[in-house]
Parts: sequence; structure tokens; C-alpha cells
Amino acid sequence: MTKKTVKLGVFLAGTGHHVASWRHPHANPTANMSIDYFKGLAQTAEKGLFDLLFLADSLSVAKDSHPNILTRFEPMTLLSYLASATSHIGLVSTASTTYEEPFSVARRFASLDHLTAGRAGWNVVTTSLASTAANFNRPEHLEHGLRYKRANEFVEVTKKLWDSWEDDTLIINKETGQFIDESKFHEINHQGEFFTVKGPLNVSRSPQGHPVIIQAGSSGDGQLLAAKHAEIVFTAQENKEDAMAFYEELKSQLSVFQRTKSSLSIMPGLFPIVGQTEGEAKEKYEALQDLIIPEVGLAIMGRYFGDVDFSTIPLDTPFADISLPDHVDGIQSKYDLIVKRAIHEDMTLRQTYQWVAGSRGHHIAIGTPTQIADKIEDWVKGHAADGFNIMPALLPDSLTDFVERVVPELQSKGIFRTEYESSTLRGNLGLDKPINQYSQGN
Ligand SMILES: Cc1cc2nc3c(=O)[nH]c(=O)nc-3n(C[C@H](O)[C@H](O)[C@H](O)COP(=O)(O)O)c2cc1C
Repeated sequence: MTKKTVKLGVFLAGTGHHVASWRHPHANPTANMSIDYFKGLAQTAEKGLFDLLFLADSLSVAKDSHPNILTRFEPMTLLSYLASATSHIGLVSTASTTYEEPFSVARRFASLDHLTAGRAGWNVVTTSLASTAANFNRPEHLEHGLRYKRANEFVEVTKKLWDSWEDDTLIINKETGQFIDESKFHEINHQGEFFTVKGPLNVSRSPQGHPVIIQAGSSGDGQLLAAKHAEIVFTAQENKEDAMAFYEELKSQLSVFQRTKSSLSIMPGLFPIVGQTEGEAKEKYEALQDLIIPEVGLAIMGRYFGDVDFSTIPLDTPFADISLPDHVDGIQSKYDLIVKRAIHEDMTLRQTYQWVAGSRGHHIAIGTPTQIADKIEDWVKGHAADGFNIMPALLPDSLTDFVERVVPELQSKGIFRTEYESSTLRGNLGLDKPINQYSQGN
């Protein structure tokens, strides 16, 4: 029986995902605005035969925002550059369904798909940061449920626009002067609750038909959107049991939309800290943890609780003794995850913010290359994941370590590619090209 292969993405972010990475002696805090830096990271990830690299995005910052997001390239601008510096790795970025328009998003990702000869992917987010409204001429931020309702219609309209050109719309007959087959060039005339869009799109059908759709919300609404539209789901799962439960819960919803379980890959975030020995790996992790400024760590955690101010609470207070809001309108899944572990493991406030600020609730794997490869194999075999979104704690070091030391372990287990199978992201993920909803007979 052929072994299930692991899908790998890398989530690139400034000097690395650890909150204190920019203070590490190996980090270059200004690298976040250097294209050569990102070119180097992208080429390292491609050398590691990763399926994709991912650039997150947000649309509002404040003085206490993390250095990785305070100043950074607009992701599509950077991906357009990285398109010329790479040849096989998928290029994925975020675009918001709450603060963008479908026509602009459809156009940008179709353009990137042409630019990369079929390697584009869109991470569909509803933007959880309420402060964003003030940057977009909006009186208020849409509430959680409404954001997801708008997101569903947004994705539907975007797909219609991508389908407004069929594969063979372009005729380009200089003799007859016919450039397109008008019968295969479609106005979408969408009339919905949130959008009225006439179309067609002004970008011809891209190599993948549709860039790959990614989604990263884990709440009930988030899962429904993913079950309907997503081909990859990014998620934060702190342990294997939670990841298996999430995996089962989400995959069981696919049949509602006549989708197979293999049409969606679930890729939890993984925070690998690699060392020659387990001891060396632990030292690397502790070196980063020691760099966390308590106020910064507490503020990051406070945001997951709807801006609760933890700074006045003694750090040795048991987390279970702290009174918290009973729900949040922002990232609901992260709230549940933090409370569950902190109370289950009798953590103090100090231990909780140090854990949360370090990995933001994603799974941390500290160990030798073999130990980390064993863990990856165990989660994939155990239906807790189809792959991982690698979140290097310190860049470029943690990515280089993973590519040079863990990837060979995964290859020798026979669970990871030794060369790219295809030149498109869909091809490497084993995904079919979507059928065009306007093609005759559809
Ligand atoms: C790996 C990962 C990447 C994400 N990237 C972004 C991003 O780029 N921009 C953003 O606004 N939210 C991002 N999010 C947040 C999600 O889009 C979503 O808002 C969050 O998970 C809350 O969803 P929920 O309320 O459905 O749980 C990301 C989440 C995860 C797990």
C-alpha cells in the first residue's frame, strides 16, 4: 500500500514566528523590508520541495503590534517578485473578504496564477481585527457570523469571475480578426445580499482555472466555509487529540457539498525547533523564551481575549483563578484553545503568556530531526493532519534547519517527495482543475 505523503507549507513572517525572534542575535530586524531576504527564504523552501510558501496579511497596525507586522510588504507585491525567483513552489497570500471587493481579488490572483504558470493560492480570511474598520471608511467592523456570510458570497462571486473565461475563449485569429469566442466569454450578472457584480473578468482563464483556495478559520462558521470552498485549511491545534477531533469534524462536513475527503488538505501550524540533540533543541527554545518581554507577551495574550489587560495580575496567579469574558468576537477558536490547556495543565499566568506569545497556540515540536519527522508521520498516519504549515520560530535559521535536517528524514521514511511532481500548485497537491461552471453542459 503506497504511503500517504505529507504536504508542507511554510508560513514566512519577518524574523520568525517566535514573538521575541527579532531580538535574537541571529535575526536581522530590518530584513522584513528586504526582497533579497525573502528571495533567499523562498529559494530555501523550494530547495526543501515545499508545496507552498504563505504570506499572511492584516490591514491595521498599532504601536504595540508585533515587529513582523508593523511594517511589511503588501503580500501580492512581494509574491509577484518571488514568482521570478522560484519555479515550482506554490505562492499563497491572504486577502480579506470583509475589506476587499471580489473583482479586485479575482483579478489579482488570476494575474499571479498567469505570472507563476499555475502556482497561485488565496488564503480567504474575514479579518478578525475590529480596528480595521477605521482604515476602510467603515462605521463598524462586521460581527463574526456576518463576516462569514459575506465571505461565502465573496468566494462564490470570485469563482464565477474566474469562470467568466473558458479554457478556449481566446481565438486570436489574425486572418479573420476574431480575438475571442464571445459565446465563451460570460457576464456573471451576480445579484446577492452583499455584492452586485456584472463581469466578465479582464484576465483570461489562468493555468489552474482557479487559484487554490485556502482558509484558516476553525470556528463553526469557519468550518462551514472551508467545507464548501477550501482545498487547504490552515489551523492552530495545540495537541494531536484536538487535531484529530478537528480533522474528523471538518472532513465529515465535506459530503454535504458532494466533496471527497481527499479534496481538502488540513495543515495545522507546526513550530519546529530542531537540534542535533534534544538538549540542544531545548536550549534553542529557551534562548528565545528568555527574550520575551513580559508586557509584550501579556499584551499578545490579552488580544486573544478581546483586549483584556493582564498586566495588573500577579504572574504566579493560577490561570483558572482569573476572571475572563465568556466569549470573544475575534478569534473564537484560539480563545477556546488557550483556556482549555491553561486550566487543564494548572498553568500560571506567566507560563500561559510565555507559551501563547511563543507559538500563538500552534503545536511546538522541540527535538532532533528524527523526533520531529516521527511526530509529523504520527499525526499524518493518525488522521490529525494531511500535512503542516511550518512556522519557523527564527528566520532564516529554523527554516534552514528544517530543510537540511528534517526533510531528508521525511524522504527516507518515504512520506515526502524527492522531486516536484508538477509545475503547478494543484498538480503538486494532487488536486483536479475545477470544471468551469459556464462551460456547455455544466
Ligand atoms: C495559519 C493561520 C494563518 C492565518 N492568516 C491570517 C491572515 O493572514 N490574516 C488574517 O486576518 N487572519 C489570519 N488568520 C486568522 C483566520 O483567518 C481567522 O480569522 C481566525 O482563525 C479566526 O477564525 P474563527 O473565528 O473562525 O476561529 C490565520 C489563522 C491561521 C491559523
